[in-house]
Amino acid sequence: MKTFHYVIVGSGIAGLTFALKVAARGSTAIITKSSRADSNTAWAQGGLACVSSQEDSLEFHVRDTLIAGDGLCHEDVVRTILEQGPACVQELLSLGVNFDHRINDQGDQQFNLGKEGGHSKRRILHNRDRTGFEIQRALLEAVSKHPNITLFENHMAVDLITTEKLKKKQPALEHAPARCVGLYVFNKKNMLVETLRANVTVLATGGCGKVYLYTTNPSIATGDGIAMAWRAGALLANMEFMQFHPTCLYHPKGTSFLISEALRGEGAILLNSVGERFMESYDPRLELAPRDVVARAIDAEMKKRGDQYVSLDISHRPSSFLQERFPKINAACLHFGIDMSKEPIPVVPAAHYQCGGVKTDLMGRTDLAGLYAIGETACTGLHGANRLASNSLLEALVMAHRAAAQAQVEAKESFDIPLPKWNTGEAQDVDEGVVIHHNWDEIRRLMWDYMGIVRTNKRLQRAATRLKNLEEEIQEFYWNFRVSADLLELRNLVTTATLMVQAAMSRQESRGLHYTLDYPQHCEKFARDTLLKRGSAPYS
Ligand code: SIN
Repeated sequence: MKTFHYVIVGSGIAGLTFALKVAARGSTAIITKSSRADSNTAWAQGGLACVSSQEDSLEFHVRDTLIAGDGLCHEDVVRTILEQGPACVQELLSLGVNFDHRINDQGDQQFNLGKEGGHSKRRILHNRDRTGFEIQRALLEAVSKHPNITLFENHMAVDLITTEKLKKKQPALEHAPARCVGLYVFNKKNMLVETLRANVTVLATGGCGKVYLYTTNPSIATGDGIAMAWRAGALLANMEFMQFHPTCLYHPKGTSFLISEALRGEGAILLNSVGERFMESYDPRLELAPRDVVARAIDAEMKKRGDQYVSLDISHRPSSFLQERFPKINAACLHFGIDMSKEPIPVVPAAHYQCGGVKTDLMGRTDLAGLYAIGETACTGLHGANRLASNSLLEALVMAHRAAAQAQVEAKESFDIPLPKWNTGEAQDVDEGVVIHHNWDEIRRLMWDYMGIVRTNKRLQRAATRLKNLEEEIQEFYWNFRVSADLLELRNLVTTATLMVQAAMSRQESRGLHYTLDYPQHCEKFARDTLLKRGSAPYS
């Protein structure tokens, strides 16, 4: 067994920032299930929203966030996180993160700020169209130099260890307070499960886009933190609000490739198959309306005409500008035979960002002592029913700072509970890998068909019934066979999908990203978070 003050699951912006903030105070481990650079963060193109110019103000940013969140943002949370953004960004700059900027006539540095949907001002800090990669580069460089941080690559968290679970086998713990005391971790190289004791455990595992057939997320985004927290009895919130990014490249070989909203910020327009700029019929903010509005408009246009995609046209901007501002997107499009300086890009909406997650307070604490959640895994109350573009890197950064300050206090508490080794029992090696792949595909397709951009009671019920059957089959697999990364991900995927559908079924109204034909309007009764706790029906 290994013992640490802090164990962080996930190596994106949230996990790495937290590690750097606490490492001087105690032994720190980062667990990451693939390579250290494989995270949702690394794929973030657009940028980090933060008030950074004279034309902008905290009030404008707060207002835009609240409008996008459609009545469900917690205003105190919004104000706290947005207000602390500039100071946290300064720390990123001091670590060597390079945001695009110019030097003005007075010799001052001025950021080249981008614009995205729902923002009334230019406020997106970016590094061309590879902002997340740049942030992660600098953070990883700092982490790798820190003597107190051990980074375990190819290690996948299996489950959290809680006193509640231990009590079942250790009667002496009967009166021990409920808390998280560590976790089991699967080493993908030697295929063994190790026990890690931690005073503080942090879930920073990113999102769950892989629950859907079409997503902009990397393959690691399987809802691991959400599913583990659920199994450990932690409270979850707002799982029905999956954000679909309006513009993912439509190409048989280019699945998952995001065409950043920043293109629309630089003037790209959306056209249907008869060449009409259709956003004019949907919202006066046109292509820069919040994402839920644009994604639904695209979905409606495609369904109306039976089209497979719509087109995003930025060919009116000079080729030199496009190459300089969007080098990654330009290169990817050219690779697929599309010259965006000459022709429109075929695009479709795809699952992009989980706005709900493990419910935390403003210090990143879950309702289970010893367990924190930060970044996309968490639901702080910032995003409400629909995240404002580029607010998520900011949230991950600020909440990592805040959680680290709190966790340093909590990590001082020591507890001396014996932690059992992982018990493999009679488990066999999986002899039917095909079942894992089949179930994985089935979940992703049924979520796409029945729990997509537009929902109905009937479709959600269908999804729930099928997921129940799949869950039973997957549980049986889990108990009878030795764990593998694929099986662990599948188990997390089915749990996360089930929770999303349960939450969606309980919200009998349309709000933000949750749109259902059965209840197309807002209903004040539902102007609150959907809470999910193991053993209870969804409540608010
Ligand atoms: C994008 O570049 O369009 C994605 C930005 C985000 O999701 O915040």
